[in-house]
Amino acid sequence: MSKPRVFSGVQPSGALHIGNYLGAIRNWVRMQDGNECFFCVVDAHAITVPQDPKRLRALTREIAALYIACGVDPERTVIFVQSHVPAHFEMTWIFNCITPLGWLNRMTQFKEKAGEQREQVSAGLYDYPVLMASDILLYDTDYVPVGEDQIQHIELTRDIAQRFNYLFGETFKLPQAIVQRAGARIMSLDNPEKKMSKSSESPMGTIDLLDEPDAIRQKIMRAVTDSLREIRFDESRKGLYNLLTIYELLSGQSREEIESHFAGRGYAELKRELAELVAESLRPIREKYREIMKDPQYIEDILARGAEKANAIAQQTLRRAKERVGLG
Ligand code: AMP
Ligand code: TRP
Repeated sequence: MSKPRVFSGVQPSGALHIGNYLGAIRNWVRMQDGNECFFCVVDAHAITVPQDPKRLRALTREIAALYIACGVDPERTVIFVQSHVPAHFEMTWIFNCITPLGWLNRMTQFKEKAGEQREQVSAGLYDYPVLMASDILLYDTDYVPVGEDQIQHIELTRDIAQRFNYLFGETFKLPQAIVQRAGARIMSLDNPEKKMSKSSESPMGTIDLLDEPDAIRQKIMRAVTDSLREIRFDESRKGLYNLLTIYELLSGQSREEIESHFAGRGYAELKRELAELVAESLRPIREKYREIMKDPQYIEDILARGAEKANAIAQQTLRRAKERVGLG
């Protein structure tokens, strides 16, 4: 029996933050046991909005290095760059031609990202979920670990696969989203109504994986909470709940343990302890990252090997799909 396949990706559109780590990458690392994993840097998704070319290329390498620094093991797992595997683009065209516009019109992420600019944003941004479906379906993926915001895209991916199978015969496997509830949505520190995001304008809301301890302390000490006193997990107290969730995920302690630990103590103490916990948890990631980046050729070699493996599988799937459709 072959192992189940896992596929996921992150856009190189900015520095990775603890939301990416707790909501996504930490789960990837765990899933390496017992699964065959493919972790992609989705640079073609990043260009759906304007990017600086030089920065994009540099960030692509940085994100790959961060995957490894977080514990993705290049010996067991395929790490690659989306644009190194042209099958993703070809597959997208075929899927475009069987995806009803109505399905794309329902995508909430597009509506949020496009906002008022609906007539100005790129066709690529609109088509983003179809490219994502290609990423996933080309590898006969079983599981897709993602944050909550991506569930709708995985459902669309299943719909596309089902429609293709219905129209042309059984070709694609239906993938399943894996969302770890806790950590699925880490909120911005300075605005707990909004999720922590790479594109956020305010650096105070986001803890980057490479932030130094001083910056981490400063951001956490200034995090927005409320004026109540008791420290407990209460989802309606968004700022506090977010800090406690981060504490819970990094400490591995239960909610009861955490609540009793902070019983009778104030927010300042919680923040101080949390800042130390975050700084210590990110230290090994930061150190490993620096080590990796000393030798740029190391990453280039891993990405070249990854592209070779990914291409071999993606080409086969693409060939199968083209045959079914009657292309060539
Ligand atoms: P993005 O930063 O939007 O490219 O997302 C990369 C991965 O991290 C996806 O699986 C997201 O669902 C996840 N993610 C992004 N932001 C957060 C957040 N604030 N909390 C939890 N997961 C997140
Ligand atoms: N859209 C995902 C995000 O923004 C990134 C992504 C692209 C992805 N292709 C994927 C995630 C395939 C999982 C599987 O987070």
